Amino acid sequence: MTENTGNEKLWGGRFTESTDAFVEAFTASVNFDQRLYRYDIEGSRAHARMLAHTGILADTDRDAILDGLDLIEREIEAGDFEWSVQREDVHMNIEARLTALIGEAGKKLHTGRSRNDQVATDLRLYLRDCIDAAVSELNRLQTGLLELAEREADTLMPGFTHLQVAMPVTFGHHMLAWFENLQRDRERLLDCRRRVNIMPLGAAALAGTSFPIDRHFSARLLGFDVPAENSLDAVSDRDFVIEFCSDAALVLIHLSRFSEELVLWASAQFDFIDLPDRFCTGSSIMPQKKNPDVPELVRGKAGRVTGHLVSLLMLMKGQPLAYNKDNQEDKEPLFDTVDTLLGCLRAFADMAPALQLKSDNMRRAAASGYSTATDLADYLVRKGLAFRDAHEIVGNAVRIGIDSNRDLSEMGLEELQQLAPVIDTDVFEVLSLEGSVAARDHFGGTAPRQVRKAISRARERLG
Ligand code: ARG
Repeated sequence: MTENTGNEKLWGGRFTESTDAFVEAFTASVNFDQRLYRYDIEGSRAHARMLAHTGILADTDRDAILDGLDLIEREIEAGDFEWSVQREDVHMNIEARLTALIGEAGKKLHTGRSRNDQVATDLRLYLRDCIDAAVSELNRLQTGLLELAEREADTLMPGFTHLQVAMPVTFGHHMLAWFENLQRDRERLLDCRRRVNIMPLGAAALAGTSFPIDRHFSARLLGFDVPAENSLDAVSDRDFVIEFCSDAALVLIHLSRFSEELVLWASAQFDFIDLPDRFCTGSSIMPQKKNPDVPELVRGKAGRVTGHLVSLLMLMKGQPLAYNKDNQEDKEPLFDTVDTLLGCLRAFADMAPALQLKSDNMRRAAASGYSTATDLADYLVRKGLAFRDAHEIVGNAVRIGIDSNRDLSEMGLEELQQLAPVIDTDVFEVLSLEGSVAARDHFGGTAPRQVRKAISRARERLG
Protein backbone atom coordinates (compact mmCIF):
# COMPACT_ATOMS: atom_id res chain seq x y z
CA MET A 1 0.00 0.00 0.00
CA THR A 2 1.38 3.47 -0.87
CA GLU A 3 2.31 6.09 1.75
CA ASN A 4 -0.57 8.46 2.24
CA THR A 5 -1.41 11.39 4.47
CA GLY A 6 -4.95 12.11 5.54
CA ASN A 7 -4.99 15.06 3.17
CA GLU A 8 -5.17 12.80 0.14
CA LYS A 9 -8.61 11.66 1.17
CA LEU A 10 -11.66 13.49 -0.17
CA TRP A 11 -12.49 14.12 3.48
CA GLY A 12 -8.85 14.60 4.59
CA GLY A 13 -8.99 18.32 5.46
CA ARG A 14 -9.40 17.99 9.24
CA PHE A 15 -7.02 15.05 9.66
CA THR A 16 -3.41 15.33 10.82
CA GLU A 17 -2.27 11.76 10.39
CA SER A 18 -2.88 9.21 7.69
CA THR A 19 -5.33 6.38 8.10
CA ASP A 20 -3.94 3.18 9.54
CA ALA A 21 -3.47 0.79 6.62
CA PHE A 22 -5.49 -1.95 8.27
CA VAL A 23 -8.29 0.47 9.21
CA GLU A 24 -8.35 1.69 5.64
CA ALA A 25 -8.90 -1.84 4.35
CA PHE A 26 -11.26 -2.65 7.22
CA THR A 27 -13.57 0.31 6.59
CA ALA A 28 -13.49 0.17 2.78
CA SER A 29 -16.50 -1.14 0.88
CA VAL A 30 -15.32 -0.62 -2.68
CA ASN A 31 -14.62 -4.31 -3.23
CA PHE A 32 -18.32 -5.02 -3.00
CA ASP A 33 -20.18 -1.73 -3.51
CA GLN A 34 -18.60 -1.17 -6.96
CA ARG A 35 -21.53 -3.27 -8.09
CA LEU A 36 -23.58 -0.07 -7.65
CA TYR A 37 -21.52 1.98 -10.11
CA ARG A 38 -24.19 2.36 -12.77
CA TYR A 39 -26.73 3.62 -10.24
CA ASP A 40 -24.16 5.89 -8.62
CA ILE A 41 -23.47 7.48 -12.00
CA GLU A 42 -27.17 7.73 -12.83
CA GLY A 43 -27.79 9.46 -9.47
CA SER A 44 -24.89 11.86 -10.09
CA ARG A 45 -26.19 12.75 -13.53
CA ALA A 46 -29.60 13.64 -12.09
CA HIS A 47 -28.00 15.59 -9.24
CA ALA A 48 -25.84 17.63 -11.64
CA ARG A 49 -28.83 18.37 -13.87
CA MET A 50 -30.88 19.44 -10.86
CA LEU A 51 -28.07 21.70 -9.61
CA ALA A 52 -27.90 23.41 -13.00
CA HIS A 53 -31.70 23.59 -13.30
CA THR A 54 -31.89 25.44 -9.97
CA GLY A 55 -28.97 27.74 -10.84
CA ILE A 56 -26.66 26.26 -8.21
CA LEU A 57 -24.26 24.98 -10.87
CA ALA A 58 -23.26 26.61 -14.17
CA ASP A 59 -24.48 24.85 -17.29
CA THR A 60 -20.89 24.52 -18.51
CA ASP A 61 -19.91 22.72 -15.30
CA ARG A 62 -22.93 20.45 -15.65
CA ASP A 63 -21.95 19.54 -19.18
CA ALA A 64 -18.37 18.82 -18.17
CA ILE A 65 -19.66 16.62 -15.34
CA LEU A 66 -22.04 14.73 -17.63
CA ASP A 67 -19.27 14.12 -20.18
CA GLY A 68 -16.91 12.97 -17.44
CA LEU A 69 -19.50 10.59 -16.02
CA ASP A 70 -20.10 9.10 -19.48
CA LEU A 71 -16.40 8.49 -19.84
CA ILE A 72 -16.15 6.89 -16.39
CA GLU A 73 -19.05 4.60 -17.17
CA ARG A 74 -17.30 3.48 -20.35
CA GLU A 75 -14.03 2.94 -18.47
CA ILE A 76 -15.74 0.78 -15.86
CA GLU A 77 -17.62 -1.22 -18.45
CA ALA A 78 -14.44 -1.82 -20.44
CA GLY A 79 -12.65 -2.97 -17.27
CA ASP A 80 -10.23 -0.04 -17.50
CA PHE A 81 -11.24 1.68 -14.28
CA GLU A 82 -8.77 1.46 -11.42
CA TRP A 83 -10.69 0.86 -8.23
CA SER A 84 -8.75 1.92 -5.17
CA VAL A 85 -9.22 0.91 -1.55
CA GLN A 86 -7.72 4.25 -0.55
CA ARG A 87 -10.82 5.83 -2.07
CA GLU A 88 -12.91 3.69 0.29
CA ASP A 89 -16.13 3.21 -1.64
CA VAL A 90 -17.78 3.37 -5.05
CA HIS A 91 -18.91 6.97 -4.50
CA MET A 92 -15.46 8.42 -3.75
CA ASN A 93 -13.77 6.31 -6.39
CA ILE A 94 -16.02 7.76 -9.06
CA GLU A 95 -15.92 11.31 -7.72
CA ALA A 96 -12.11 11.31 -7.49
CA ARG A 97 -11.83 9.98 -11.02
CA LEU A 98 -14.25 12.65 -12.23
CA THR A 99 -12.08 15.41 -10.82
CA ALA A 100 -8.96 13.78 -12.25
CA LEU A 101 -10.65 13.75 -15.66
CA ILE A 102 -12.39 17.14 -15.81
CA GLY A 103 -10.70 19.23 -13.10
CA GLU A 104 -12.51 22.00 -11.14
CA ALA A 105 -16.05 21.17 -12.29
CA GLY A 106 -15.70 17.69 -10.81
CA LYS A 107 -15.19 19.16 -7.36
CA LYS A 108 -18.60 20.88 -7.55
CA LEU A 109 -20.66 17.72 -8.04
CA HIS A 110 -20.92 17.00 -4.33
CA THR A 111 -22.62 20.37 -3.63
CA GLY A 112 -25.78 19.85 -1.59
CA ARG A 113 -25.24 16.11 -1.39
CA SER A 114 -23.69 13.59 0.98
CA ARG A 115 -22.64 10.00 0.61
CA ASN A 116 -25.44 9.25 3.05
CA ASP A 117 -28.24 10.24 0.68
CA GLN A 118 -26.15 9.06 -2.25
CA VAL A 119 -25.74 5.49 -1.06
CA ALA A 120 -29.40 5.21 -0.07
CA THR A 121 -30.37 6.47 -3.53
CA ASP A 122 -28.00 4.08 -5.31
CA LEU A 123 -29.31 1.15 -3.33
CA ARG A 124 -32.93 1.96 -4.14
CA LEU A 125 -32.20 2.35 -7.85
CA TYR A 126 -30.31 -0.96 -7.82
CA LEU A 127 -33.02 -2.79 -5.92
CA ARG A 128 -35.76 -1.46 -8.20
CA ASP A 129 -33.99 -3.14 -11.15
CA CYS A 130 -33.45 -6.33 -9.16
CA ILE A 131 -37.14 -6.52 -8.27
CA ASP A 132 -38.06 -6.11 -11.93
CA ALA A 133 -35.65 -8.89 -12.88
CA ALA A 134 -37.01 -11.19 -10.14
CA VAL A 135 -40.60 -10.52 -11.16
CA SER A 136 -39.81 -11.35 -14.76
CA GLU A 137 -38.10 -14.63 -13.76
CA LEU A 138 -41.08 -15.45 -11.54
CA ASN A 139 -43.28 -14.83 -14.53
CA ARG A 140 -41.26 -17.25 -16.64
CA LEU A 141 -41.46 -19.92 -13.95
CA GLN A 142 -45.20 -19.41 -13.46
CA THR A 143 -45.78 -19.60 -17.20
CA GLY A 144 -43.84 -22.89 -17.25
CA LEU A 145 -45.95 -24.25 -14.41
CA LEU A 146 -49.13 -23.39 -16.28
CA GLU A 147 -47.88 -25.24 -19.36
CA LEU A 148 -47.06 -28.25 -17.23
CA ALA A 149 -50.42 -28.05 -15.47
CA GLU A 150 -52.23 -27.93 -18.80
CA ARG A 151 -50.27 -30.87 -20.20
CA GLU A 152 -51.01 -32.93 -17.06
CA ALA A 153 -54.48 -31.67 -16.19
CA ASP A 154 -55.89 -35.24 -16.17
CA THR A 155 -52.83 -37.03 -14.76
CA LEU A 156 -53.63 -38.75 -11.48
CA MET A 157 -51.38 -38.74 -8.46
CA PRO A 158 -51.84 -39.28 -4.76
CA GLY A 159 -52.49 -36.13 -2.75
CA PHE A 160 -50.75 -36.28 0.63
CA THR A 161 -51.33 -35.09 4.14
CA HIS A 162 -48.70 -36.04 6.73
CA LEU A 163 -46.90 -37.50 3.69
CA GLN A 164 -49.48 -40.30 3.82
CA VAL A 165 -51.68 -40.95 0.80
CA ALA A 166 -54.83 -38.93 1.43
CA MET A 167 -56.97 -38.50 -1.73
CA PRO A 168 -56.28 -38.67 -5.43
CA VAL A 169 -55.55 -35.33 -7.07
CA THR A 170 -54.54 -34.30 -10.55
CA PHE A 171 -50.94 -33.33 -11.23
CA GLY A 172 -52.19 -30.16 -12.89
CA HIS A 173 -53.92 -29.19 -9.66
CA HIS A 174 -50.75 -29.82 -7.70
CA MET A 175 -48.74 -27.54 -10.02
CA LEU A 176 -51.38 -24.84 -9.69
CA ALA A 177 -50.83 -24.91 -5.93
CA TRP A 178 -47.21 -23.86 -6.49
CA PHE A 179 -48.39 -21.28 -8.99
CA GLU A 180 -50.47 -19.67 -6.23
CA ASN A 181 -47.50 -19.56 -3.85
CA LEU A 182 -45.44 -17.79 -6.48
CA GLN A 183 -48.27 -15.44 -7.35
CA ARG A 184 -48.30 -14.20 -3.75
CA ASP A 185 -44.51 -13.84 -3.90
CA ARG A 186 -44.85 -11.76 -7.03
CA GLU A 187 -47.49 -9.52 -5.46
CA ARG A 188 -45.29 -9.04 -2.39
CA LEU A 189 -42.32 -8.03 -4.53
CA LEU A 190 -44.40 -5.57 -6.53
CA ASP A 191 -45.77 -4.11 -3.32
CA CYS A 192 -42.25 -3.80 -1.92
CA ARG A 193 -41.25 -1.97 -5.11
CA ARG A 194 -43.68 0.85 -4.25
CA ARG A 195 -41.78 1.52 -1.02
CA VAL A 196 -38.39 1.10 -2.72
CA ASN A 197 -39.23 3.69 -5.36
CA ILE A 198 -38.93 6.73 -3.08
CA MET A 199 -35.99 9.08 -3.42
CA PRO A 200 -33.59 9.87 -0.53
CA LEU A 201 -31.46 12.27 -2.63
CA GLY A 202 -31.49 15.79 -1.23
CA ALA A 203 -31.56 14.63 2.37
CA ALA A 204 -27.80 15.20 2.20
CA ALA A 205 -26.00 14.05 5.36
CA LEU A 206 -29.15 14.03 7.50
CA ALA A 207 -30.83 17.44 7.73
CA GLY A 208 -31.15 18.53 4.13
CA THR A 209 -29.05 21.24 2.51
CA SER A 210 -28.84 25.04 2.59
CA PHE A 211 -28.89 25.17 -1.23
CA PRO A 212 -32.21 25.79 -3.01
CA ILE A 213 -32.48 22.28 -4.47
CA ASP A 214 -35.49 20.88 -6.31
CA ARG A 215 -35.95 17.31 -5.15
CA HIS A 216 -39.04 16.74 -7.27
CA PHE A 217 -36.98 17.56 -10.34
CA SER A 218 -34.32 14.90 -9.53
CA ALA A 219 -37.00 12.39 -8.55
CA ARG A 220 -38.62 12.78 -11.96
CA LEU A 221 -35.28 12.30 -13.73
CA LEU A 222 -34.56 9.12 -11.80
CA GLY A 223 -38.05 7.67 -12.19
CA PHE A 224 -38.78 7.79 -8.45
CA ASP A 225 -42.43 8.24 -7.52
CA VAL A 226 -41.69 10.92 -4.90
CA PRO A 227 -38.83 12.32 -2.81
CA ALA A 228 -38.69 10.93 0.73
CA GLU A 229 -40.68 13.08 3.17
CA ASN A 230 -38.14 13.27 5.97
CA SER A 231 -34.40 13.76 5.56
CA LEU A 232 -33.44 11.92 8.76
CA ASP A 233 -35.53 8.94 7.73
CA ALA A 234 -34.32 9.08 4.13
CA VAL A 235 -30.65 8.48 5.01
CA SER A 236 -31.17 5.98 7.81
CA ASP A 237 -34.03 3.77 6.66
CA ARG A 238 -33.13 0.30 5.42
CA ASP A 239 -36.62 -1.20 5.82
CA PHE A 240 -36.79 -1.54 2.08
CA VAL A 241 -33.75 -3.84 2.07
CA ILE A 242 -35.19 -5.96 4.86
CA GLU A 243 -38.58 -6.09 3.22
CA PHE A 244 -37.08 -7.25 -0.06
CA CYS A 245 -34.98 -9.89 1.71
CA SER A 246 -38.04 -11.09 3.56
CA ASP A 247 -39.95 -11.40 0.29
CA ALA A 248 -36.96 -13.20 -1.23
CA ALA A 249 -36.75 -15.55 1.75
CA LEU A 250 -40.39 -16.51 1.22
CA VAL A 251 -39.75 -17.22 -2.46
CA LEU A 252 -36.84 -19.43 -1.44
CA ILE A 253 -38.90 -21.20 1.22
CA HIS A 254 -41.51 -21.97 -1.43
CA LEU A 255 -38.90 -23.18 -3.91
CA SER A 256 -37.34 -25.22 -1.12
CA ARG A 257 -40.62 -27.01 -0.42
CA PHE A 258 -41.16 -27.63 -4.11
CA SER A 259 -37.55 -28.89 -4.32
CA GLU A 260 -38.19 -31.32 -1.50
CA GLU A 261 -41.07 -32.77 -3.48
CA LEU A 262 -38.93 -33.11 -6.61
CA VAL A 263 -36.19 -34.85 -4.63
CA LEU A 264 -38.72 -37.27 -3.13
CA TRP A 265 -40.48 -37.86 -6.43
CA ALA A 266 -37.20 -38.54 -8.23
CA SER A 267 -36.21 -41.18 -5.65
CA ALA A 268 -36.52 -44.90 -6.44
CA GLN A 269 -39.06 -45.16 -3.59
CA PHE A 270 -41.53 -42.71 -5.17
CA ASP A 271 -40.36 -42.94 -8.78
CA PHE A 272 -42.93 -40.35 -9.95
CA ILE A 273 -40.69 -38.21 -12.16
CA ASP A 274 -37.58 -38.17 -14.22
CA LEU A 275 -35.47 -35.02 -13.94
CA PRO A 276 -33.71 -34.30 -17.23
CA ASP A 277 -30.01 -35.25 -17.05
CA ARG A 278 -28.95 -31.66 -17.60
CA PHE A 279 -30.28 -30.73 -14.16
CA CYS A 280 -28.54 -33.62 -12.37
CA THR A 281 -25.05 -34.89 -11.69
CA GLY A 282 -23.55 -38.30 -11.03
CA SER A 283 -21.47 -39.75 -8.24
CA SER A 284 -17.69 -40.15 -8.43
CA ILE A 285 -17.88 -43.55 -6.77
CA MET A 286 -21.35 -45.02 -7.41
CA PRO A 287 -21.77 -45.44 -11.16
CA GLN A 288 -25.54 -45.92 -11.00
CA LYS A 289 -26.28 -42.58 -9.31
CA LYS A 290 -28.15 -39.63 -10.80
CA ASN A 291 -28.53 -36.98 -8.15
CA PRO A 292 -31.17 -34.21 -8.18
CA ASP A 293 -28.57 -31.51 -7.48
CA VAL A 294 -30.51 -28.50 -8.66
CA PRO A 295 -33.49 -28.95 -6.32
CA GLU A 296 -31.17 -30.01 -3.49
CA LEU A 297 -29.08 -26.85 -3.90
CA VAL A 298 -32.13 -24.62 -4.06
CA ARG A 299 -33.38 -26.25 -0.84
CA GLY A 300 -30.00 -25.50 0.75
CA LYS A 301 -29.92 -21.91 -0.46
CA ALA A 302 -33.20 -21.17 1.31
CA GLY A 303 -31.21 -21.36 4.55
CA ARG A 304 -28.62 -18.92 3.33
CA VAL A 305 -31.17 -16.30 2.26
CA THR A 306 -33.08 -16.65 5.52
CA GLY A 307 -29.76 -16.07 7.30
CA HIS A 308 -29.25 -12.81 5.38
CA LEU A 309 -32.70 -11.65 6.42
CA VAL A 310 -31.89 -12.26 10.06
CA SER A 311 -28.50 -10.49 9.82
CA LEU A 312 -30.18 -7.44 8.30
CA LEU A 313 -32.79 -7.32 11.04
CA MET A 314 -30.02 -7.49 13.63
CA LEU A 315 -28.04 -4.84 11.75
CA MET A 316 -30.82 -2.30 12.22
CA LYS A 317 -31.62 -3.18 15.80
CA GLY A 318 -30.21 -0.54 18.13
CA GLN A 319 -29.21 2.04 15.50
CA PRO A 320 -30.08 5.58 16.60
CA LEU A 321 -31.03 8.11 13.92
CA ALA A 322 -29.71 9.01 11.48
CA TYR A 323 -27.00 7.37 9.30
CA ASN A 324 -24.49 5.05 10.97
CA LYS A 325 -21.58 3.26 9.37
CA ASP A 326 -23.22 0.00 10.43
CA ASN A 327 -25.33 0.42 7.32
CA GLN A 328 -22.39 -0.37 5.09
CA GLU A 329 -23.00 -3.95 6.24
CA ASP A 330 -26.35 -4.02 4.44
CA LYS A 331 -24.79 -4.57 1.04
CA GLU A 332 -23.22 -8.01 1.09
CA PRO A 333 -26.31 -9.79 2.46
CA LEU A 334 -28.51 -7.88 0.02
CA PHE A 335 -26.30 -8.59 -3.00
CA ASP A 336 -26.02 -12.25 -2.14
CA THR A 337 -29.78 -12.45 -1.63
CA VAL A 338 -30.35 -10.94 -5.08
CA ASP A 339 -27.86 -13.31 -6.75
CA THR A 340 -29.26 -16.34 -4.97
CA LEU A 341 -32.86 -15.42 -5.69
CA LEU A 342 -32.26 -14.80 -9.38
CA GLY A 343 -30.15 -17.96 -9.71
CA CYS A 344 -32.76 -20.19 -8.06
CA LEU A 345 -35.61 -18.69 -10.07
CA ARG A 346 -33.68 -19.17 -13.27
CA ALA A 347 -32.86 -22.79 -12.46
CA PHE A 348 -36.49 -23.53 -11.64
CA ALA A 349 -37.89 -21.70 -14.63
CA ASP A 350 -35.60 -23.77 -16.88
CA MET A 351 -36.30 -27.04 -15.09
CA ALA A 352 -40.05 -27.02 -14.38
CA PRO A 353 -41.38 -27.34 -17.94
CA ALA A 354 -38.85 -30.14 -18.61
CA LEU A 355 -40.13 -32.49 -15.88
CA GLN A 356 -40.98 -35.94 -17.24
CA LEU A 357 -43.76 -37.71 -15.38
CA LYS A 358 -44.02 -41.45 -14.78
CA SER A 359 -47.77 -41.36 -14.75
CA ASP A 360 -48.29 -45.14 -14.36
CA ASN A 361 -46.33 -45.08 -11.12
CA MET A 362 -48.21 -42.04 -9.88
CA ARG A 363 -51.51 -43.67 -10.72
CA ARG A 364 -50.53 -46.87 -8.93
CA ALA A 365 -49.52 -44.88 -5.85
CA ALA A 366 -52.83 -42.99 -5.95
CA ALA A 367 -54.72 -46.28 -6.05
CA SER A 368 -52.97 -47.52 -2.90
CA GLY A 369 -53.54 -46.32 0.64
CA TYR A 370 -57.37 -46.32 0.40
CA SER A 371 -57.32 -42.88 -1.19
CA THR A 372 -61.02 -43.07 -2.16
CA ALA A 373 -62.26 -43.94 1.35
CA THR A 374 -63.69 -40.45 1.78
CA ASP A 375 -65.52 -40.83 -1.53
CA LEU A 376 -67.23 -43.93 -0.16
CA ALA A 377 -68.22 -42.08 3.02
CA ASP A 378 -69.62 -39.17 0.94
CA TYR A 379 -71.52 -41.74 -1.19
CA LEU A 380 -73.15 -43.22 1.92
CA VAL A 381 -74.16 -39.73 3.04
CA ARG A 382 -75.82 -39.15 -0.34
CA LYS A 383 -77.69 -42.42 0.24
CA GLY A 384 -79.09 -41.02 3.49
CA LEU A 385 -76.60 -41.95 6.23
CA ALA A 386 -75.17 -39.45 8.72
CA PHE A 387 -71.51 -38.63 8.02
CA ARG A 388 -70.28 -40.01 11.37
CA ASP A 389 -72.02 -43.37 10.73
CA ALA A 390 -70.68 -43.43 7.19
CA HIS A 391 -67.16 -42.71 8.51
CA GLU A 392 -67.45 -45.67 10.91
CA ILE A 393 -68.69 -48.05 8.19
CA VAL A 394 -65.91 -47.07 5.77
CA GLY A 395 -63.37 -47.45 8.59
CA ASN A 396 -64.54 -51.04 8.96
CA ALA A 397 -64.30 -51.60 5.21
CA VAL A 398 -60.71 -50.27 5.21
CA ARG A 399 -59.82 -52.62 8.07
CA ILE A 400 -61.19 -55.58 6.10
CA GLY A 401 -59.22 -54.36 3.08
CA ILE A 402 -55.99 -54.11 5.07
CA ASP A 403 -56.49 -57.60 6.54
CA SER A 404 -57.09 -59.12 3.10
CA ASN A 405 -54.65 -56.84 1.26
CA ARG A 406 -57.27 -55.36 -1.11
CA ASP A 407 -58.34 -51.88 -2.12
CA LEU A 408 -61.96 -50.86 -1.58
CA SER A 409 -62.56 -51.04 -5.34
CA GLU A 410 -61.46 -54.67 -5.28
CA MET A 411 -64.22 -55.74 -2.86
CA GLY A 412 -67.36 -57.39 -4.16
CA LEU A 413 -70.75 -55.68 -4.14
CA GLU A 414 -72.23 -58.21 -1.70
CA GLU A 415 -69.32 -57.81 0.67
CA LEU A 416 -69.81 -54.04 0.67
CA GLN A 417 -73.57 -54.42 1.07
CA GLN A 418 -73.00 -56.42 4.25
CA LEU A 419 -71.41 -53.29 5.68
CA ALA A 420 -74.11 -50.96 4.34
CA PRO A 421 -77.16 -52.33 2.49
CA VAL A 422 -77.67 -48.99 0.67
CA ILE A 423 -74.56 -49.63 -1.42
CA ASP A 424 -75.33 -50.32 -5.09
CA THR A 425 -73.36 -50.95 -8.31
CA ASP A 426 -72.91 -47.18 -8.83
CA VAL A 427 -70.40 -47.35 -5.96
CA PHE A 428 -67.61 -48.55 -8.27
CA GLU A 429 -67.61 -45.32 -10.25
CA VAL A 430 -67.29 -43.49 -6.94
CA LEU A 431 -64.39 -45.69 -5.84
CA SER A 432 -62.44 -45.12 -9.08
CA LEU A 433 -59.63 -42.54 -9.17
CA GLU A 434 -61.17 -40.74 -12.15
CA GLY A 435 -64.55 -40.63 -10.42
CA SER A 436 -62.96 -39.31 -7.25
CA VAL A 437 -61.19 -36.36 -8.87
CA ALA A 438 -64.04 -35.60 -11.28
CA ALA A 439 -66.39 -35.33 -8.30
CA ARG A 440 -64.42 -32.42 -6.82
CA ASP A 441 -65.92 -30.17 -9.43
CA HIS A 442 -66.16 -26.75 -7.80
CA PHE A 443 -64.10 -23.55 -7.80
CA GLY A 444 -60.65 -24.46 -6.47
CA GLY A 445 -61.26 -28.23 -6.67
CA THR A 446 -59.06 -30.87 -8.30
CA ALA A 447 -61.45 -31.99 -11.10
CA PRO A 448 -59.68 -31.73 -14.49
CA ARG A 449 -62.52 -29.46 -15.68
CA GLN A 450 -61.80 -27.07 -12.80
CA VAL A 451 -58.05 -27.29 -13.35
CA ARG A 452 -58.52 -26.12 -16.94
CA LYS A 453 -60.69 -23.24 -15.81
CA ALA A 454 -58.14 -22.31 -13.13
CA ILE A 455 -55.37 -22.32 -15.74
CA SER A 456 -57.19 -19.86 -17.94
CA ARG A 457 -57.90 -17.60 -14.95
CA ALA A 458 -54.23 -17.88 -13.94
CA ARG A 459 -53.12 -16.80 -17.43
CA GLU A 460 -55.25 -13.68 -17.11
CA ARG A 461 -53.92 -12.93 -13.63
CA LEU A 462 -50.35 -13.22 -14.91
CA GLY A 463 -51.17 -10.61 -17.52
N1 ARG B 1 -19.88 3.16 2.04
C1 ARG B 1 -20.89 3.79 2.81
C2 ARG B 1 -22.09 2.85 3.02
O1 ARG B 1 -22.11 1.85 2.44
C3 ARG B 1 -21.35 5.03 2.11
C4 ARG B 1 -21.88 6.08 3.03
C5 ARG B 1 -20.82 6.49 3.93
N2 ARG B 1 -21.12 7.70 4.61
C6 ARG B 1 -20.34 8.12 5.58
N3 ARG B 1 -20.65 9.24 6.10
N4 ARG B 1 -19.28 7.46 5.98
O2 ARG B 1 -22.95 3.10 3.79
